[in-house]
Amino acid sequence: MKRSVIKGVGGYLPEKKLTNADLEQMVDTSDAWIRERTGIRERHIAAADELTSDLAIRAAKEALKNAGLSGDDIDVIVLATTTPDDTLPATAVKVQQAIGMTHGFAFDVQAVCSGFMYALSVADNYIRTGMATRALVIGAETLSRIVDWQDRNTCVLFGDGAGAVVLEAQDGDSSKADQGVLNILLRSDGRYRDLLVTTGGVSRNQKAGTILMEGREVFRHAVTNLAEIARQVMGSMDVCADEISYLVPHQANARIIDGTAKKLNFDAEHVILTLPYQGNTSAASIPLALYDGVTSGRIKRGDLLLLESMGGGFTWAGALIRF
Ligand code: UT7
Repeated sequence: MKRSVIKGVGGYLPEKKLTNADLEQMVDTSDAWIRERTGIRERHIAAADELTSDLAIRAAKEALKNAGLSGDDIDVIVLATTTPDDTLPATAVKVQQAIGMTHGFAFDVQAVCSGFMYALSVADNYIRTGMATRALVIGAETLSRIVDWQDRNTCVLFGDGAGAVVLEAQDGDSSKADQGVLNILLRSDGRYRDLLVTTGGVSRNQKAGTILMEGREVFRHAVTNLAEIARQVMGSMDVCADEISYLVPHQANARIIDGTAKKLNFDAEHVILTLPYQGNTSAASIPLALYDGVTSGRIKRGDLLLLESMGGGFTWAGALIRF
């Protein structure tokens, strides 16, 4: 069978940093509260003329370089974002143009903080079925554009950034020893859609709107859903916790990450944590964590990784990948 092997990883964070001390000047909050309740110290904010596509292109070019490939080697781009440059066309075609990819196809997916996992699953299926040999999967966000900077419940949480991976088809023997994506499980439950929304939308009021979240409720579901889907994906490949080198979680809240890791019996040194210096970058957070793990030398070839995400919708997902 065909497996999707990660050939290269890239990431990009905008230059400007917004610290907790900066936020203390903007809303009624404190560095102590933010660190204690979320684990976040600072986040990156895109410049006014820096668009989601600009971040995505930087991450994509680096992933291609690290894979030793050029734009025209790629058959499909799947870009996950909640903050596209424009309502149409897809942000992915800007990336396609920028990397000099003149064949194949490119499009966006939207599954909020689980966007990268959904995009990965789409690309993995194209590779498994032979529809593509190489794919570029990107998570890119300028979430700062839809944050209500007067709402202390949400404005302390989010940041901007982009991460990308290049996937390539490789033959495997269907076992958990294979290199590449071993399995991805996706879930959503629309009954919970109202717990994490924006105040606007194209069809509803022709505005992008700003984020509104029932944080405590989202938190409550997150640990349960994440631990459950992680166990399911591990069970699907007959993998136990001590076979996994790193948990690469969506970075929303350090307490969610700790709670999930504890439920799954992972020590802190087996968890990739970028949250303190990036905040929650939504669809970009998992590929950025992967990028951090790889560039810091912790994630090595042959390591088994467990990825997991939870976000608006609700959407949630778990994946096992041998790097
Ligand atoms: O990525 C998508 C998925 N999103 C998530 O996973 C986020 C999940 N939720 C969370 O991470 C947490 O619920 C938050 C970090 C958003 C909030 O933490 P919490 O411990 O659940 O706090 P809370 O909402 O229960 O609020 C506790 C108190 C409230 O005051 P009262 O009502 O007890 O007087 C809030 O008004 O903390 C207050 N509060 C703040 N205080 C200082 C809320 N935000 C702040 C703030 N600074 N920034």
